[in-house]
Amino acid sequence: MNLEFSLNGKPASLEIEPRETLAEVLRLRCRLTGVKVSCDAQVCGSCTVLVDALPVSSCTYLAYEVRDKQVVTIEGLAGESGRLHPLQQAFIDQFAFQCGFCTPGMILAAKAFLDERLSEASSAPPEITDAEIVAHMNGNLCRCTGYLPILKAIRQAAAHMRADREKA
Ligand code: FES
Ligand code: FES
Repeated sequence: MNLEFSLNGKPASLEIEPRETLAEVLRLRCRLTGVKVSCDAQVCGSCTVLVDALPVSSCTYLAYEVRDKQVVTIEGLAGESGRLHPLQQAFIDQFAFQCGFCTPGMILAAKAFLDERLSEASSAPPEITDAEIVAHMNGNLCRCTGYLPILKAIRQAAAHMRADREKA
């Protein structure tokens, strides 16, 4: 079957099998190997990508379901100039990864959360608490870093993104 969708801001058109998962299509057909598959059972969050700005586990999400939707992977996060997204920079600054296997999924799950919280209608972007971050990120597992550096990285990026929204 033919699948047309937006991939990291650009139109994509592929021939796929109806049974293929989004992770398979992104990794094997699109060569976007930043999409990591670990548990392959919707438990660990390593394969998280964004579909219409919402995080999904691409290991159990059928690819044809993204027809006419917008998919973002870690490869699409940096700006045109190559400037890293504040979350990517914060993960580096806070040493929030070791093997890095969970990191693309962590960053994309955090992006979905921060984008949604910081765009809520109010006179000023809200402060985001550690408890909120922990609650939102509980579907993303890390086997080697420890969660404190990851929390610090998301906190740093939240402050950065919040300041950007205040200036806008
Ligand atoms: S690889 Fe998809 S949730 Fe673990
Ligand atoms: S950095 Fe290795 S699993 Fe998270």
